[in-house]
Amino acid sequence: MSTSTTLKNLIEIRDLSVTFPSEAGIVQAVRNVSLDIRAGEVLGIVGESGSGKTVMSLSMIGLLAESAKITGTISYNGVNLLSLDDNAMSKYRGKDIAMVFQDPLSALNPVHTIGRQIAEALHIHSEISKEAALARAVELLEIVGIPRPAERAQSYPHEFSGGMRQRVMIALAIANQPKVILADEPTTALDVTVQAQILDVLKTARDMTGAAVVLVTHDLGVVAGLADRVAIMYGGKVVEIGNVDDVYASPAMPYTIGLLRSIPRIDGAESSRLTSIDGAPPSPVALPPGCAFAPRCPAAAPQCDASVPALVSISPTRMTACVRQSEIASFQSSGKLFVEGPRHVAQTSTTDAVRSKCAA
Ligand SMILES: Nc1ncnc2c1ncn2[C@@H]1O[C@H](COP(=O)(O)OP(=O)(O)O)[C@@H](O)[C@H]1O
Ligand SMILES: [Mg+2]
Repeated sequence: MSTSTTLKNLIEIRDLSVTFPSEAGIVQAVRNVSLDIRAGEVLGIVGESGSGKTVMSLSMIGLLAESAKITGTISYNGVNLLSLDDNAMSKYRGKDIAMVFQDPLSALNPVHTIGRQIAEALHIHSEISKEAALARAVELLEIVGIPRPAERAQSYPHEFSGGMRQRVMIALAIANQPKVILADEPTTALDVTVQAQILDVLKTARDMTGAAVVLVTHDLGVVAGLADRVAIMYGGKVVEIGNVDDVYASPAMPYTIGLLRSIPRIDGAESSRLTSIDGAPPSPVALPPGCAFAPRCPAAAPQCDASVPALVSISPTRMTACVRQSEIASFQSSGKLFVEGPRHVAQTSTTDAVRSKCAA
């Protein structure tokens, strides 16, 4: 996996905010997010349910609800995707930027065969004969590990298991050689054993296409095994970002520290020192005036409520949003922040315990 900082930026998100009107008030789903997606990287986006991960992903392919109010820019090849109408956006969607959804059954057409759906996805973006498209569909099914692909191309979505359907979604996503694959909780609905297989297929898809993969998940274990970089989201903001190994070895933002503390080690050691973060994420219609994590943060001080902390560089490859950044290390070593000492995170774990701790 490449973690070079010299990789070209494929997508540059700048000051992205997304709100929705609601009866309870304005839902602030994504707040002033700036983020780069680099060519060929796997970028994990991790956060609890409601932190804005899906809304941010959907804004990159123009699939947000009509009621969404969006500000900021999302640049791809010098084009601000947010300035495009749906017709112009549809030339990028599925071609340059593809998406794998959590629930493949709702993303697939129930009345068409799998083979036909993949062939149609090929047709939309290229001049290809019907026969060639169907032959390519079978090849794609083989690449994603569907047994007897020529035969299975004749099947309908409901005839596939959840894992097989997710393989089909990945085949669809790579059909047009995208530059970016957005995978939103691609394994969340699947059994643990199947999850690992699907992550392997995603890896294969990345290797075959060279596409960047944005892996959206609430499960830090999923990201540990696959991502080059990780962005941690809380309350609609990115609160920490860096190379995945660095973030896991020495998390800098108290929320990241808490998240990592709540993952059981795969070898079971130190299980008595597992902690969870008390409290619940803030309502997106009533966010605190300062740091959204302050109400749950053991290191919170009056200055944390004064203003929303900016995401600032603490090293050439790491940014974090915490006004008490310089004091966090000593907080941690004195045992005041969740538990003391950085915890090793298993590289492959996707246990039920992990899932229930960071519930989606
Ligand atoms: N179409 C919508 N209308 C109103 N609120 C929405 C809509 N879509 C998402 N939200 C709200 O935006 C916030 C972020 O949602 P989402 O991005 O789905 O979170 P995540 O994927 O991190 O779980 C949530 O509070 C959610 O309820
Ligand atoms: Mg989501």
